[in-house]
Amino acid sequence: MEKEVLSILDMRTNAPYDIPIENGAVRASDLRRMKAGPGDFGLMSYDPAFLNTASCQSAITFIDGDKGILRYRGYPIEQLAEKCTFLEVAYLILNGELPTELQLKNFVGAVTHHTMLHETTKTFLTGFRHDAHPMGMFISTVAALSTVYPDAKNVLDPEARKLQIQRLIGKVPTIAAYTYRHSLGYPYIYPDDDLSYTENFMNMLWKMVEPKYRANPVLARALDILFILHADHEQNCSANVMRAVGSSQADPFVCTAAAAAALSGPLHGGANEEVLKMLDEIGSKENVRGYVDKIKAGHGKLMGFGHRIYKNYDPRARIIKWAADQVFVATGRNPKLDIALELEKIALEDEYFIKRKLYPNVDFYSGIIYQALGFKPEMFTVLFAIPRTVGWLAQWQEMIQDPEQKIARPRQLYTGYDVREFVPIEQREVRATSATR
Ligand code: CMC
Repeated sequence: MEKEVLSILDMRTNAPYDIPIENGAVRASDLRRMKAGPGDFGLMSYDPAFLNTASCQSAITFIDGDKGILRYRGYPIEQLAEKCTFLEVAYLILNGELPTELQLKNFVGAVTHHTMLHETTKTFLTGFRHDAHPMGMFISTVAALSTVYPDAKNVLDPEARKLQIQRLIGKVPTIAAYTYRHSLGYPYIYPDDDLSYTENFMNMLWKMVEPKYRANPVLARALDILFILHADHEQNCSANVMRAVGSSQADPFVCTAAAAAALSGPLHGGANEEVLKMLDEIGSKENVRGYVDKIKAGHGKLMGFGHRIYKNYDPRARIIKWAADQVFVATGRNPKLDIALELEKIALEDEYFIKRKLYPNVDFYSGIIYQALGFKPEMFTVLFAIPRTVGWLAQWQEMIQDPEQKIARPRQLYTGYDVREFVPIEQREVRATSATR
């Protein structure tokens, strides 16, 4: 095949350049060859919020946002959600291939082996105020694990990496469940090795005085499916943070805490909590149209709608809708679903949303299921963080193994003052500061 090349004529100097195209992209560093004159640094590309910049090469997750396609390691999300358990999908995401029966047994055994928290970590959790937000507790406790496992600093050792990955996947449900019990003032429940990943999580959340917790299989499967849907989503905000922090060779516990912090924002994983608040605010189906009009007039955003990549229906939202029906058979219908369905209907028919290609995303319906399962909205983003830990770790591992990766360090276009003469304090005048703009 003929080499693909982008030919550019720099009109500043009349110099021609041939820039190679690889995988449909040019390397931004190739632009540096284009200089306006001898002392010039060279041309940079400017892309705040990475609207059109690939920050890495990745073989983990594929998304076609226009067609509404999501695949992990080549397998369509619909097939994985229907046929796999969450840990089977976790193995796939981390290792690149679906596990054999023996490989899965060993992986499940290894993760299960690491579900316990050190007792001092439990004590650490008791230090939070009773009304601390579960996501704040989750982020801080995951970071605190870094102090429990100093061997996690050996990020270049594949065996050490594997161990930390198993530890993190094993421990995040335990931390999540403890944050929940803490906010209710309930005693912590230790993990039960006999149970599956999701059943054990439910055990740690909801076991009271019964000798053995038995999860409702329909609800446990629904949670497992939700975990599969949330496991990875290529270079989203939190995955990008995981890679950026990991690129300094910080240990995976603090990297995961940083990624979870990114997830907590209302424009990212925090949106599921916001959707529930929004549905509460709307209150009834009759108020939906008025609410949509308010959004169109520029008052806020429709939470759970829109996506940087999906310009079509988010395939995860479709599967969640299906899972919601299964859950409601067991729990009774969440009345908020009717408001959500009406909101979706009105928005999808409206010119404002059609023109901007705004469709429901994964967070639009997940909160409704979580609420039906018995979670309060503050827990929703923690429920997102548990499975996404797998994706973060896969992204982190891929980044560490990538020979091209270096410490992430973007450039800037400096727009501030040129050099200024220092002004002594007694001669200074009050000026508008950049912090209050
Ligand atoms: N409601 C109303 N208008 C919207 C919305 C929304 N939810 N999302 C985008 N728009 C408008 C936006 O105002 C802009 O309009 P205009 O062209 O007139 O200025 C246009 O659509 C393009 O939006 P954008 O802000 O350039 O899009 P983005 O790619 O920067 O943002 C997003 C993507 C997900 C942050 C945004 O759609 C949003 O804030 N949605 C609500 C929060 C949400 O549901 N987040 C969860 C995302 S999916 C799961 C995850 O990543 O965690």
